[in-house]
Parts: sequence; C-alpha cells; structure tokens
Amino acid sequence: MADPSEVLVKMVNICKSFGHVEVLRDVNFEVGYNEVVGLLGDNGAGKSTLIKILTGVHRPDRGEIYWKGQKLEDYSVAKARELGIETVFQERALCEQHTIWRNIFMGREITKPGGLIDIQREREETERIMKELMGFTSSALSVDSEVRGLSGGEKQGVAIARALHFQADLIILDEPTTGLSLSETQKVLNFVEDIKRQGKSAIFITHNIYHVYPVADRIVILDRGRVVGEFQKAEVTLEELVDKLYLVAQTGSLNNRGEGSSPSAPEGNNDLQSLMP
Ligand SMILES: Nc1ncnc2c1ncn2[C@@H]1O[C@H](COP(=O)(O)OP(=O)(O)O)[C@@H](O)[C@H]1O
Ligand SMILES: [Mg+2]
Repeated sequence: MADPSEVLVKMVNICKSFGHVEVLRDVNFEVGYNEVVGLLGDNGAGKSTLIKILTGVHRPDRGEIYWKGQKLEDYSVAKARELGIETVFQERALCEQHTIWRNIFMGREITKPGGLIDIQREREETERIMKELMGFTSSALSVDSEVRGLSGGEKQGVAIARALHFQADLIILDEPTTGLSLSETQKVLNFVEDIKRQGKSAIFITHNIYHVYPVADRIVILDRGRVVGEFQKAEVTLEELVDKLYLVAQTGSLNNRGEGSSPSAPEGNNDLQSLMP
C-alpha cells in the first residue's frame, strides 16, 4: 500500500464487531486522488459497515484512518462532511416531495443579507448544475420538478450533482444501481464518469461486477469481512474477474485451496446469483 500522504484516504487494519459477530477483520482499504474504486462483495460482506466507519457513523474497534496523510482523531459524521466526504444512498438521499432546486441546496442554502433563502439564485444555480453537471436536457424536467417524479437514475444524478457542486473530494455510492433498469443504470455510470472528469474520487459499492467494471479504476473484493482481492482494472478482464468472484463465493478465497476463509463465516452467504447481473 502507498504512503498515506500519497492517497486521498487510507484505512488501515480496520476491525469491527457487532456483539459477537466479527463484521470486518483487519481491512486495509484506500482511495487515490481522482480514482474510482469499485468495492465489490456479496450481501453481508461488510461493505456498508466499512463505509459507515469511513463516514464517521461507526467507530472501528481497531484501526486507523488517514485523510490526505493526516491521521483522523475524534472522527465523526460532521467531521467527514467537513473534509468533503459525501455519501449517496439509494434511498433517503433526497426529499421526495420537494423540488430539484430545494434538494440541491437543502441544508446549505444560499441566503440573502438578513438570512432569507435566496430562491432566485438557488433556482438559477440549479438550472446551471442540471445542464453542466448532470447533462439534463429533457424538457420534461425543470428546476421546479418534484423529485418524486424522477426516475431512480435521475435521483442518483441529483444527489451526485449536489455532492459535486459542494466540492466533495470523495463521493461514496452505496449500491446505487440496485433495482434500476438497464438504461437507468447506464445514467448512474455516466454520473460516476462525471465525478472522475471533475477530478474527484469515488467509491462505488455494489454486488454486481457488471455495473462497476466499466467505471472503476480499481476493484476491491470484500468477502465476509476480509479483503480477498484487489485488482487494477487494467490488469484483469471482466471475464477473469467473474471467474475470481465465483472462486471467492465457493471457497472464501482467491486461491482454490480455500486458505484464509473465515472459520466463523456465517453459512448461506454464498449466493452466486447475487454477484451476477
Ligand atoms: N448496526 C449493526 N448491528 C449489528 N449487526 C450489524 C449492524 N450493521 C451491520 N451488521 C451486520 O454486519 C454484517 C455486514 O453488514 P453490511 O456491512 O451491511 O454488509 P453489506 O453492505 O456488504 O451487505 C451483516 O451480517 C449485518 O447483519
Ligand atoms: Mg450494504
């Protein structure tokens, strides 16, 4: 692994248990500057838990986090946000009954002297963001459209545009394509490419290799709380990766002797189908 100062974020030997259940064991995970990392793993692998530690929601039992080379102490959700780490969840990311412009600026309103919200400027800015950051050209959508009328992919777009507009350095997408149609998934992948073009970094969490492979620079495979594989996209084809995932699902390891598989791993966790499209 790289020197902490050479990467945007570096998590070192992260351990986390809930009660007697060991959810993460000695996980090392990093994201470089302007890098898109695919975090891949079956349901229950510990992906969301790792991300919740990175965003200050959970405290690790052991391990360290470095941000731009600085070790984080007294870490919290507020601190993560201050650093420029934004999470885009599939649900709960937006207020459905509000307009697009309200959603973009919610919690970070532009105010006039005196404290009132500058609605005019927020609407104008949203218009620009929709065109420039989101590439929304549909005449069916305006800044005043209610979010509940948007498709799943468009909602992800609003949430990502919001994060980009507020200069997040790291945008985390937790299962952004789950439940989306093919064309909607494609939209989300386009938004991830926008993040890359804007010079920012992203973590794309999924259990579907076909969704993350096209946009990732690097892919990390998590299985039952351990990192079992890590690949630069340039050094592995999609077909090879699919083979490796089957191997991990069957043996809990990338070497076919099954070494390193967790003795305490819960049974019934090897749903091969869930890793596939
Ligand atoms: N707050 C919690 N309390 C107890 N167990 C949890 C909690 N959050 C997650 N877990 C357990 O940790 C394991 C990993 O969950 P999670 O990180 O959500 O996996 P993934 O996102 O890869 O599907 C699961 O077995 C889950 O039930
Ligand atoms: Mg999850």
